[in-house]
Amino acid sequence: MNIGFFDSGIGGLSVLREALTLLPNENYIYYADSDNAPYGTKTKEEVKKLTFDAVKLLDERKIKALVIACNTATSAAVRDLREVYGFPVIGMEPAVKPAVEKNNNGGKRVLVLATALTLKEEKFQNLVSRFDAGHIVDMLPAPKLVEFAEKYIFSGPDVSEYIKEIMPQNINQYGTLVLGCTHFPLFREALEESIPKNIDIIDGNKGTVNHLIDILKNNDLLSQSNQKGSVTFYKSGVEVKDHITLSNYEKILYGSSAL
Ligand code: DGL
Repeated sequence: MNIGFFDSGIGGLSVLREALTLLPNENYIYYADSDNAPYGTKTKEEVKKLTFDAVKLLDERKIKALVIACNTATSAAVRDLREVYGFPVIGMEPAVKPAVEKNNNGGKRVLVLATALTLKEEKFQNLVSRFDAGHIVDMLPAPKLVEFAEKYIFSGPDVSEYIKEIMPQNINQYGTLVLGCTHFPLFREALEESIPKNIDIIDGNKGTVNHLIDILKNNDLLSQSNQKGSVTFYKSGVEVKDHITLSNYEKILYGSSAL
């Protein structure tokens, strides 16, 4: 059986990349809803509907677990998905807790970069009120990064200019930048070049895959095969077979100098 991965587009490939390293013998189906991306500027109801449509297809292709490799879709739909489906559903949320723990005593603030919908949703607001007692967390949406990513533009003058434009002027007050959208780790190099070196950049990808491993273990669902598994891709309901898209996906998954 497969492990399903879902994202509004290609951002979730940054999570699948970790999964392929830590769980190479599993078979994966990756669903990118690129025709409907970005999700972050849509309403919660729209995102929920699109997510349910995609998961229906993944369920029909038989999955043993599902990773919602999208913070936005997680905040809009994860609770309802868990009520409907019998397989484990692993969601994502911005890594606020480790960032706050790290900066609480150091006098620096935390900047969470995520989509507008993630930032305004109850799930994120609850996360912040739970862990940010000292009010050191600030939020910043970055919708254009999602658009750049969907065009496979991860670096260059337009990206750098946009990052410089949105970053707060008093950037030196931050100790950690949290990447709260799975599209954003694809811009790690461009971000590193645009902010001071002493700000660390964290994402929740590895934590999510470790959580997936625990869930698979606890449910006795880990693959017993010692062969390398496969990855099948779907783009908004259609299996991806064209070479250009496949090679773009593979570049993100298996490495390219830009990433
Ligand atoms: N990759 C998504 C996330 O983690 C959303 C990007 C979008 O479609 O706006 O939130």
